[in-house]
Amino acid sequence: MGKFIDLFSLSVYRESLGIDPELRKSLSSIILDNEARTPAAADQESAWLGDTAGHEFLFQEDAFEPLFDVIGVSVRRYLNELGLDADRLQLYFQRSWATVSRAGQRIFEHAHVQSHLSFAYYLQKPADGGGIYFSVAEHPNELAPELFTSTKEGLGILTATNDRTINRKYVETVEDEILIFPSKTLHSTAPNMTDQPRISISADIVLALKDSRGHETLMPAIEHWRPF
Ligand SMILES: [Fe+2]
Repeated sequence: MGKFIDLFSLSVYRESLGIDPELRKSLSSIILDNEARTPAAADQESAWLGDTAGHEFLFQEDAFEPLFDVIGVSVRRYLNELGLDADRLQLYFQRSWATVSRAGQRIFEHAHVQSHLSFAYYLQKPADGGGIYFSVAEHPNELAPELFTSTKEGLGILTATNDRTINRKYVETVEDEILIFPSKTLHSTAPNMTDQPRISISADIVLALKDSRGHETLMPAIEHWRPF
């Protein structure tokens, strides 16, 4: 009997940030106010997405500064835990926005391909408010297209569903928790099964080298760039 050697895995970092409940409440009301002032999505199944509703730079707003300070520390911890020297990197919040998922609404599968790191922070998360799915477009073991789908499981071809044969994994999340992951990671959410809105804050982060001497890849710090 042989055995498998499992190689490579996606690592999503999770951490409870300990943000003061009063601050969370006041930030939630700012977001709900933004939602009320901008048109709802035409697709009622889709959550309200602040980035496409004109609210894509939350980190520029004073009220959000304490939250982004704590998130910055968490992102540096993620990088160091992953095995990178965060002190050598200049990090930039590139875009940041909120999402509001009301009863039955969800966020469809997507990736944030223009940045390096992304996160979801759960400002308000009812217990059955819907967690997050992470997917891989090309699972290393998926030896024929669409082999690792529920249809194939239903047809009896796929007999074992585990990390070796599943291309989408569900993560349940709790209020005040942040999930940090590579921006290229496909993700989506489960529908909110409650009447309470689920409110999350996301941002895209770009990494640049503080000192790019000797490096062929990774971006040099933006202050060295020349606009034209
Ligand atoms: Fe996203």
